[in-house]
Amino acid sequence: MSADNTPEILALLRGAAESAARAAAEQIGCGQAESVEGAAAQAMSEVLTRFPFAVRIALGEGREEEVSGLYDGQIIGAEQRDPAFELAVDPGEGTTYLADGLTNAMTVLALAPLGAMRILSPALYMEKFAAPPAAKGRIDPAWPVADKLAALGKLLGKDVEKLTIFVLEKPRHRALIDQIGELGAEVISFPAGDVAGALLSALPNSGIDAMMGTGGIREGIISACAARALGAEFQGRIDPQLQSEQLAVKQAGLDITRWIPAEELVTSTDTYFCATGITTGLLLEGVERIEGRDRVQTLMIAGSTGESQLQTTWRRLAPNA
Ligand code: FBP
Repeated sequence: MSADNTPEILALLRGAAESAARAAAEQIGCGQAESVEGAAAQAMSEVLTRFPFAVRIALGEGREEEVSGLYDGQIIGAEQRDPAFELAVDPGEGTTYLADGLTNAMTVLALAPLGAMRILSPALYMEKFAAPPAAKGRIDPAWPVADKLAALGKLLGKDVEKLTIFVLEKPRHRALIDQIGELGAEVISFPAGDVAGALLSALPNSGIDAMMGTGGIREGIISACAARALGAEFQGRIDPQLQSEQLAVKQAGLDITRWIPAEELVTSTDTYFCATGITTGLLLEGVERIEGRDRVQTLMIAGSTGESQLQTTWRRLAPNA
């Protein structure tokens, strides 16, 4: 991939993300996360099938026998042979709590050269540390929280009291959230959607200075692709949460003590990231229908050029839509 075909690749990813987000938004009223995720996956799959080149899904919705499409290892595209690229996709990132009216849901895709994404299965969860480019390689995520915040404040030229840290709102993070609060920094919490947290930590002037805490592995690799394209900090440590996962990780001999830098999670800077909002959250506006038109907002990032674009598109709806 080169800077020359960046616009084409971003346009293809945007088409897949926006189609999935629109399909997901149509299902929101049904109140069931599975219907939202299913509709998004189906729509994304239809667009990816028409890609002019073959792509391997490195991290998709699950194993072939478990899901109806977008499975791990699937080769997709109009050409079915010799993929040069791989994708990590999450058509319904952060949709579990949509029925409760909670926001931050979006559709995400990350593209990288074939073989660049680290596959950490059978692990499902990863502890993550994301921070802006100024902090890259300067903070050890294994340090105590107080040391991390002090170092981050120094690097960003802010007092610790002025820092804002994104942490998923989960029982496993209660102590972490308390600790950050006791140190005087602000915590922003959502029950789902840590890709948005990682992205906000990487982008300038987002109001979020870092993300800490444990979330999904697939979301971690997608975030690492974005961080690599932006030159931001991202590290992950395998952190199994389920008993069955702990056993499987142990049997597979995976190291749960080591923080893995973004360079090892995704071994290329030639990565692409694309996200479209399903519901309005911290990062993106959600899909909205107003007076016969719909609006979608998409963030696109390209490692080849280091560019990031935020595009809002209004589209006329078909007469009976
Ligand atoms: P969804 O299942 O709603 O897509 O949730 C996505 C997510 O919140 C990720 O952002 C996060 O990495 C992971 O789930 C956390 O998993 P869990 O909710 O099982 O702790």
